[in-house]
Amino acid sequence: MKVCVLGAAGGIGQPLSLLLKLQLPAGSQLSLYDVAPFTPGVAVDLSHIPTDVSVKGFVGDDVEAAMADADIVVIPAGVPRKPGMTRDDLFNMNAGIVKNLISAGTKACPNACYAIVTNPVNSTVPIAAEILKSAGVYDKRKLFGVTTLDVIRSNTFVAELKGKSCDEINVSVIGGHSGVTILPLLSSIPGVDLSQDEIEKLTPRIQEAGTEVVEAKVGAGSATLSMAHAAARFTSSLVAAMNGESVIECCYVQTGDDTSSFHAQPVKLGREGVESIPPIPSLSEYEQKLLDDMREVLDGNISKGLEFARS
Ligand code: 2OP
Repeated sequence: MKVCVLGAAGGIGQPLSLLLKLQLPAGSQLSLYDVAPFTPGVAVDLSHIPTDVSVKGFVGDDVEAAMADADIVVIPAGVPRKPGMTRDDLFNMNAGIVKNLISAGTKACPNACYAIVTNPVNSTVPIAAEILKSAGVYDKRKLFGVTTLDVIRSNTFVAELKGKSCDEINVSVIGGHSGVTILPLLSSIPGVDLSQDEIEKLTPRIQEAGTEVVEAKVGAGSATLSMAHAAARFTSSLVAAMNGESVIECCYVQTGDDTSSFHAQPVKLGREGVESIPPIPSLSEYEQKLLDDMREVLDGNISKGLEFARS
């Protein structure tokens, strides 16, 4: 299995590459690309860690060489938020970065699975879909927005609140990956009962957890370490599924017939990416209202991405 990380020298990319070097199955290849000139040095550094995962670094014009025949491409490349910014404020910077990287992938690894971390995920994933589609290589089973950070934050906060181990908690998070489009299904966590009051306090905290990190880092960026862990977890799940295991992860995928229908929810992963999309668990009245209310924002984010990619 070849896994390529684009943006591998950045705040998310470096810890993500470290975790993949430690977690990928023996025999995997890790290919690291970034515009930063020291990226080959990151690869050399990681290559001294004694695991059976080979690491190679690429820089500058070598993006297609880095992506050549990759099975999975993980993309954290791009600029992070500063205090006061929403993820959508990153659109102008990051949309073009994702467009260029995916365009390279259409030639270098047309059959790869893509896991996109670059914000605004609600828009960058539809951009990727349109670029792949216009090159004639789009397979909706193979394109994912990584929303795992919303899941792990939810698990952590619920475990803290209920005095349980994080390992016992598995919250499904649906919708998208920004503000009101993040909808944790706190009314139906297996083995956990939360009061409506607890749910109404925890939901906005989970929705704004990324902003909590941005503000705490006082201008130095957004979540990098927890994001790297989340992306490594998602990538490892995808690798396991592509190797024949049955795995369910929440992620942002095309759920309908066309590229205007992206939605995060629990997805069954298999050898070719998305194997099936189980129905969303039944929602409480509160959750249903939040889902209905987010629709306009999510649709707007998706349309913005599609329009950019088509222009
Ligand atoms: C977050 O939720 C970086 O989007 C990421 O913190």
